[in-house]
Amino acid sequence: LVRHFQPKALAGRHVLITAGPTFEAIDPVRGLTNRSSGKMGFALARAAHEAGAQVTLVAGPVALPTPRGVQRVDVVSAQDMQRAVLASADAADVFIAAAAVADWRPASTSDQKIKKDGSGEAPTLAFVENPDILAGVAASPRARAGALYCVGFAAESHDLLAHAQAKRARKGVPLLVGNIGPDTFGRDDNALLLVDEAGSTELPRAGKLALARQLVTEIARRLPRR
Ligand code: CTP
Ligand code: CA
Repeated sequence: LVRHFQPKALAGRHVLITAGPTFEAIDPVRGLTNRSSGKMGFALARAAHEAGAQVTLVAGPVALPTPRGVQRVDVVSAQDMQRAVLASADAADVFIAAAAVADWRPASTSDQKIKKDGSGEAPTLAFVENPDILAGVAASPRARAGALYCVGFAAESHDLLAHAQAKRARKGVPLLVGNIGPDTFGRDDNALLLVDEAGSTELPRAGKLALARQLVTEIARRLPRR
């Protein structure tokens, strides 16, 4: 009976989430992307909404339905994603960077389809580094003051704990969540390693929605009281 009157864990909070891959155009018909399905980020958006949050979901190109009650902003490139995130970050209490942002984009994009020139030679592509969306938000005054709680993800092929701890420090985020491999892309289940200032805890293998609900609970527990 008492439970019924307890407010939801994220009631009154605004949660901003990135999800999916980004797509970096080479020309009008080609581009560089990655195998992120967006499933974990979309599950987190659903779970945060269930927990009572107002949710903004910035999504790269994915084939997933928008969770009920979630405000979705579709983007293509990492630069688009950064613009959309910065437009919502000031109003957010939590930022969860679940997107697999392309680390590099082609240094230039051709307006026209690049054609074979008949020489048999392949074109050489030059790349530039994309902005680090999470590190940028984590370095903002509100995040540094503890008013915007930032959560990063990491997919590593080996030494997950060490890499996750290093990434947490490098990004300047209080919570870094490691995907426990081997291959999480596109799967419906996963296992997570939560790394914070106190150490690390594992959320054992489960469906992504079940994991998302647990992670949302863990994030809510870590938020400063208001
Ligand atoms: N991230 C981001 N913007 C980028 C790259 C990554 O916001 N340009 C975020 C991801 O959404 C994730 C976290 O940073 O939450 C870690 O991403 P990851 O690719 O694991 O780390 P990188 O810093 O890009 O390092 P590397 O890929 O070399 O391991
Ligand atoms: Ca990366």
